[in-house]
Amino acid sequence: MSRALNSSQVVNIEDLRRIAQARIPKAVFDYLDGGAEAELTLAENCKAFREVTFRPRGAVAVHECNLKTKILGYEISFPAMLAPVGYSRLMHPEGEVAAARAAGEAGTGYILSSISGHRMEDVRAASRGPVFYQLYLMGGRAAAEAALERARTAGFSGLVITVDTPVAGLRERDPRNGMKQLLGSSPFAKIPYLPDFFAHPGWLISFLLDGGMPKLENIVIPGQGPMKLVDVAAALAESTVTWEDLGWIRELWKGPIIVKGLLTGDDARRSIDEGAAAVVVSNHGGRQLDSVSPTLRALPEVVAAVNGQIEVLMDGGVRRGSDIVKALCLGAHAVLIGRAYAYGLAAAGHAGTARALDILRSDVDRTLRLLGCASVLELSRSYVDVPATWARM
Ligand SMILES: Cc1cc2nc3c(=O)[nH]c(=O)nc-3n(C[C@H](O)[C@H](O)[C@H](O)COP(=O)(O)O)c2cc1C
Repeated sequence: MSRALNSSQVVNIEDLRRIAQARIPKAVFDYLDGGAEAELTLAENCKAFREVTFRPRGAVAVHECNLKTKILGYEISFPAMLAPVGYSRLMHPEGEVAAARAAGEAGTGYILSSISGHRMEDVRAASRGPVFYQLYLMGGRAAAEAALERARTAGFSGLVITVDTPVAGLRERDPRNGMKQLLGSSPFAKIPYLPDFFAHPGWLISFLLDGGMPKLENIVIPGQGPMKLVDVAAALAESTVTWEDLGWIRELWKGPIIVKGLLTGDDARRSIDEGAAAVVVSNHGGRQLDSVSPTLRALPEVVAAVNGQIEVLMDGGVRRGSDIVKALCLGAHAVLIGRAYAYGLAAAGHAGTARALDILRSDVDRTLRLLGCASVLELSRSYVDVPATWARM
């Protein structure tokens, strides 16, 4: 598989997406690929990058290109980290362990979702780089406290609190594909949806050899053990994170806290007041509230509101290294990538994730050289034009 990945057939992230689509069942692919409701925000996230154009400096020879930056004191080899992606183990048995390993080998950070099939200790051990834990309060406060203690003992680098998920968004592809029935316990309810699985024997065999439906190893409900996947939607609806929760979480977690999933200057300032060390401008990759701003457009307002007090990351729609460069030009310290690496993971596990990171890193390097800019630290608003219709710039 890795020879196929290095071939001329895989030159961009879209190529990995195509391979993933062929390898995994439609129900799993649509879960990964889809967005909420009419998928307006999903599309707009990508479109916003296309609307920003570069202003290169000509006749500049860049001999050494610096892609390194620091996030929360951790040096990363290029300005992109891996976003939390739930159910990664359904995409490939290597799941979160492979993604963390590929991130570490590429010299960057990984964020482990609470909705993960591998034990957090194994994920942490898979990477030499920074690994963060993204906390949902599913399973109640006692389960969250136990997860925080495990994350501390395992040596996680920081905590990510996602604030845009008071309930799961309606991703319309999922009910059509029978996601609920497939994750449920009734074998009869699954029958109409099984042909999709049998049409992907390679994935099916690896899934069965991996023990079938994984449990949520990091959400351990006292007295009950790890939460089952089927409980996720109901559990999310009962576990809204509020600003008040940040108080007790901060008491228990002495390391840095990143607030993920905001789109306004007001929420960014509130995050600073609550002790956040960084924020992620994010709309969950268009999977939660549809019709919100594309994140690239929301980024400048947040950067202005934060005014250098804490670090600002962004995610949503990053599919090319040039997208990463544009986000940095508009003030992001770094980006998170979600689907861009998850397509690689679904296509070929660790090798596919590594290939995705390799593509993005060489994109960033080439884009900087073509821009005539020697370092990601020197990128600024002066290297891009934004449409006149973008307000509040
Ligand atoms: C399949 C999938 C699962 C996700 N699961 C989580 C999650 O468990 N927790 C979370 O905070 N964000 C989750 N996200 C959102 C990502 O962390 C990130 O915000 C988003 O993918 C960025 O958009 P992009 O996919 O266009 O890069 C998920 C995204 C995808 C695509």
